[in-house]
Amino acid sequence: MDYKIAVIEGDGIGPEITASAIAVINAVASKYNHNFTYDYVPAGGNSIDRYGVPLTEDALQRCKASDSVLLAAVGGPKWDALPGHLRPERALLGVRKELGLFANIRPAKLNPVLKSACPLKEEVASRGFDMIIVRELTGGMYYGERGRRTGEGGEEAYDTECYSVAEVERITRVACDIAMKRSKHLISVDKANVLESSRLWRETVHRVATTEYPEIAVSDMLVDNAAMQLIRNPAQFDVVVTSNMFGDILSDEASQITGSIGLLPSASLGANTCGMYEPIHGSAPDIAGKDFANPIATILSVAMMFRLSFGLEKEAAEIEAAVDAVLQKGYRTRDILDNGTEPLGCKAMTERVIEQLN
Ligand code: IPM
Ligand code: MG
Repeated sequence: MDYKIAVIEGDGIGPEITASAIAVINAVASKYNHNFTYDYVPAGGNSIDRYGVPLTEDALQRCKASDSVLLAAVGGPKWDALPGHLRPERALLGVRKELGLFANIRPAKLNPVLKSACPLKEEVASRGFDMIIVRELTGGMYYGERGRRTGEGGEEAYDTECYSVAEVERITRVACDIAMKRSKHLISVDKANVLESSRLWRETVHRVATTEYPEIAVSDMLVDNAAMQLIRNPAQFDVVVTSNMFGDILSDEASQITGSIGLLPSASLGANTCGMYEPIHGSAPDIAGKDFANPIATILSVAMMFRLSFGLEKEAAEIEAAVDAVLQKGYRTRDILDNGTEPLGCKAMTERVIEQLN
């Protein structure tokens, strides 16, 4: 089959981890006779430097014209002082919104061989965990009305959290579809003891689940409690559904307890099969260009792309198995180093994964 992938290398470690992902795709392509073409699309800080904006209309159109988008990471201190609408992160928000990618799927699983990298207590880590955070991605405070104004006490700034019933319904369905294939237990995270938007969220999640997915047991958890439960007893979570802002925060926390943020992939999906796939970590400017980055999150994002956008289940499973095998053999990048192990660079780690694929 032929597939066209829009590739956003982005900034910082972006180009290094992109090269890893492309090398893995090419290895799978030659093994299975697939044909991938890549359209390298500028976005983020490098686009600001070249075109004065984080995402050009042309870049957006090229993403839309592709079968899927692979994004490494955007941003860095160089562009931190720019006003909000010109920051590199706007590129990400723009692609998400314009491609209608309302569902962000973030799996967080503790690989037993990385237990020593898990910062939790031994007894908690030994129980393991395997959860999927389903984060709403095109609504809430990220896209609500915001601004500055003069109030009684002088200058004020505001951001608004707004969710429509339809937005909550569709993300609930995505989460329920995932839960149906797993434990049929869904935890919805909100702040319904304070926020009206959360009360509507809660009502809607329950209505959709009860009427359309009667087999699923839904429980609610307040976001502050969820943040605590994630480190106290992560094994209790299977599928979690939450808003854009809460999902942003909780998914970083979930990633850290897997040992390293450098391990976790994500998929952003909409109503059709074109999705955007990206590691959940950022552009790590402090280690950019040093060949230190962990390519695993990006490589696993490719596996998600194969499975969820292209229906290439066998190829996806093979990539995941290759990553597992490499970790099992004790190969480590710096972020997940065991005492006494020699760290591998981004390139060497990628080569080990590719060896497993052959
Ligand atoms: C993420 C990131 C982004 C977000 C930033 C870079 C805008 O933190 O994908 O989690 O907040 O969504
Ligand atoms: Mg985040």
